[in-house]
Amino acid sequence: MGERPSGSRPLSCPTRGALSGQGSWERLDLLDEELEIQFPVRPIPRKDWTDPEAIGLMRVGQPVVITGSNLAKPMVDKWTLEYLSTRVNPEAKMLVKRTPGIFMHSDPAKDQCSYDFESRVVWDKMTFADFTQQLETPHRSEGGSREDRLYLQEGLSMEGFGPELAKDTCECNWKWLNEVQRELGFGKLSDNLLLIGERGAVTHCHYDEQHNLYAQLYGRKRAMLISPAHWNKLYPFPVGHAADRQSQVDAYEPNLARYPRFAEVEGVDCVLEPGDILYMPEMWFHMFENKYEPHSMSVTFWFNIVNPDPRSIEVPMRDPRMRCTVRRNLEKFTLQALGGRKAAEFFRKWGRGEELTGEFAATLTKLREMAAMLIDPAESEAFLRELVSSRYDIPVRA
Ligand code: OGA
Ligand code: FE
Repeated sequence: MGERPSGSRPLSCPTRGALSGQGSWERLDLLDEELEIQFPVRPIPRKDWTDPEAIGLMRVGQPVVITGSNLAKPMVDKWTLEYLSTRVNPEAKMLVKRTPGIFMHSDPAKDQCSYDFESRVVWDKMTFADFTQQLETPHRSEGGSREDRLYLQEGLSMEGFGPELAKDTCECNWKWLNEVQRELGFGKLSDNLLLIGERGAVTHCHYDEQHNLYAQLYGRKRAMLISPAHWNKLYPFPVGHAADRQSQVDAYEPNLARYPRFAEVEGVDCVLEPGDILYMPEMWFHMFENKYEPHSMSVTFWFNIVNPDPRSIEVPMRDPRMRCTVRRNLEKFTLQALGGRKAAEFFRKWGRGEELTGEFAATLTKLREMAAMLIDPAESEAFLRELVSSRYDIPVRA
């Protein structure tokens, strides 16, 4: 294992190590406390867009920072808060998330199992003028009274952005983007999400099921990525939980008693500058820190994954991205077979090593059969154990 990042704290933290491990991030303040991620990182390679190694890395599912592509040039050249302010529809309400802690995405509509989980991230809808005005009210870290940090996250397809901003979007380097899309077999462009994060706003460790060409427009931003090969060290919330795809571990103050494998996580990182494009392959865990300028601006170019031709799938599966899909499918199967509440109970009992009888025993037999078909039989049992170990000790509502 590599060196810990220099200047980082020791892994045990007396003030928070004793917490349950869920919720310690609720009080995290990156800037106030000079927190540092508790896993070692190597730099993500930076490649010019004309360098064949750039597309080569993408082809093998590795992250890369691509320079010089001019993908989002009109936005990089022009987009500032002032520029946007005078061009958006003044009535249009945009999604602004706020929290005093870390920005962990969750969606109550995804909770199929009645898990007891309350997000500290509030979703507001407000005009762009209200957003910029709130950004100007001093935060606690500057002697003000505002506790929350703000993060605008709105799709550019929203009509409220108006015709001039749509024109800037149209003048992006779509030619190059289409070439990359074709060459790498990406599916359809699904969304362009505009992200305006205030300094101190941190996005929690999670993965998405899409390819992402992530364009930095304004200010700098640190990105930290972890390969899906480390899935078992990050203990993502279960499928059927509101925080599905998010790690249960606080990367700044990990509870290693509860999540011991986190100690072996290794990642990669970069500081994105305006004009840089970060390729984030699907299923790679990622986190972001806005910690340089007062705010930073980025836009995603998200592409759907095309399901591989079943005849071309390599079995037993070794590709870490495919193995994540298998895990998700095993969890989805269980939710369907048992229903949400019972599935949560089944996984919790199995994870704790309790004896399973009746339909729980039958479900486990079925999961073993499915895993044995897709994963090397020599390791399919370990694969299944990791699916449940320390992931399902989550309270359920009465
Ligand atoms: C993403 C993402 C969050 C951020 O683009 O997938 O998680 O803070 N972005 O930019
Ligand atoms: Fe993401």
